[in-house]
Amino acid sequence: MTQRFLVHPSTRVEGSIRVPGDKSVSHRALMLGAIATGTSHVTGFLPGEDCLSTLAALRSLGIEVRQHDATTIDVVGRGLRGLAPPRQALDMGNSGTAMRLFMGLLAAQPFPTELIGDESLSKRPMERVARPLRQMGADIQTNHGTPPVRIAGGASLHGLRFEMPVASAQVKSAVLLAALYAAGETSVTEPGVTRDHTERMLVRLGCRVGRSGRTVTVAGGSVLSGTRIPVPGDLSSAAFMVLAGCLATEGELVIEGVGLNPTRTGILQILGLMGADLRVEAAADDGGEPVGRLIVRPSRLRGADIPPDLVPLAIDEFPVIFVAAAMADGETVVRGAEELRHKESDRIRVMADGLRTLGIDVQELPDGARIRGGRLRAGTIDSGGDHRVAMSFAVGASRAEGPVTILDTANVATSYPGFVGQAGAIGLDVRVTADA
Ligand code: S3P
Repeated sequence: MTQRFLVHPSTRVEGSIRVPGDKSVSHRALMLGAIATGTSHVTGFLPGEDCLSTLAALRSLGIEVRQHDATTIDVVGRGLRGLAPPRQALDMGNSGTAMRLFMGLLAAQPFPTELIGDESLSKRPMERVARPLRQMGADIQTNHGTPPVRIAGGASLHGLRFEMPVASAQVKSAVLLAALYAAGETSVTEPGVTRDHTERMLVRLGCRVGRSGRTVTVAGGSVLSGTRIPVPGDLSSAAFMVLAGCLATEGELVIEGVGLNPTRTGILQILGLMGADLRVEAAADDGGEPVGRLIVRPSRLRGADIPPDLVPLAIDEFPVIFVAAAMADGETVVRGAEELRHKESDRIRVMADGLRTLGIDVQELPDGARIRGGRLRAGTIDSGGDHRVAMSFAVGASRAEGPVTILDTANVATSYPGFVGQAGAIGLDVRVTADA
């Protein structure tokens, strides 16, 4: 059984919404809560399939997680040495974040573990995490670079000074998690700024984290203490609705309670460069993640050369940016974004194929694309099973010349449960159909 979206054109986007909780922060709240001492009370948790994979894996590792409702949970931490051996392989589903962060967390446990994933995850690179963990003393095997990942367990880790070759928050976070178990200090130096949710949450849980330029340092044996962890709305989910508000011809959309961590806000800067009528109102910071409100109105978008230094700050939003570019006046050039080929799909190829099918002139480049803006026509495109591709096309299709069918959309539930309902509430016409 597969699922598809059928999208009909619409013009007005309006209302006031809250998007579901941040995926990156939700994974980290569960994992760090599990190895803290005492209970962490998590509010605004994302009950998407990716984070539920992390939750199920922690339960298999003996952690008690009490779910009061879909978004309010208590994680009963058992301290750094409190995880128990699982009875079977831990299934990470579609989630690269879950698999990579668990590699760091499990590298120093006294028992062996195996991490598996779905078809998409089973093709994604894991050596980028395994390599530095091996340098710390871990015994980890991948299957020619991809999952399943087998961790022998029982290794004594030592600190590492790691110059990270790719700008990846997942690699950084895995090494920082392993660092808690390593003798001495571990530092990670990143080549470009990546999201810093792990560092912020470690600090919130009472861990000392050194920061100097692009280097983060953590000492082995640092003790974490359970606490209250509010999860902000996911800016990566809000991005689809921001695009909808820009592409509309009437209305005003307000998105409340969105995470505005400066390591994530590249999309707001990029849409700003493209002429979006977008206002950002920051709210008071409670010492964890910055949050605020976005107000978006119909905009005349224009093409732009995307500055390469904004790429890591908007790494998950390129499907949105490709659609914005396809509907902007003039040409947009994306370079320095080779990482997009290693996401839930090869996002450069899948986006270029889909946009071309809908009549847009796109030249694929090894590390990006050149997109000439135009008008989307009716048609059928394949999302490649990629949640963010499916949602970006659903929004773009709302301003197409006729109905658009988007294939293979079930994975939208990995990050944005309720997307179709919320899209409908603000004025889009997205229907779900299932076929054998
Ligand atoms: C994430 C980091 C990013 C991002 C992913 C979530 C995280 O991946 O694409 O959706 O939570 O750390 P990389 O670290 O591979 O860039």
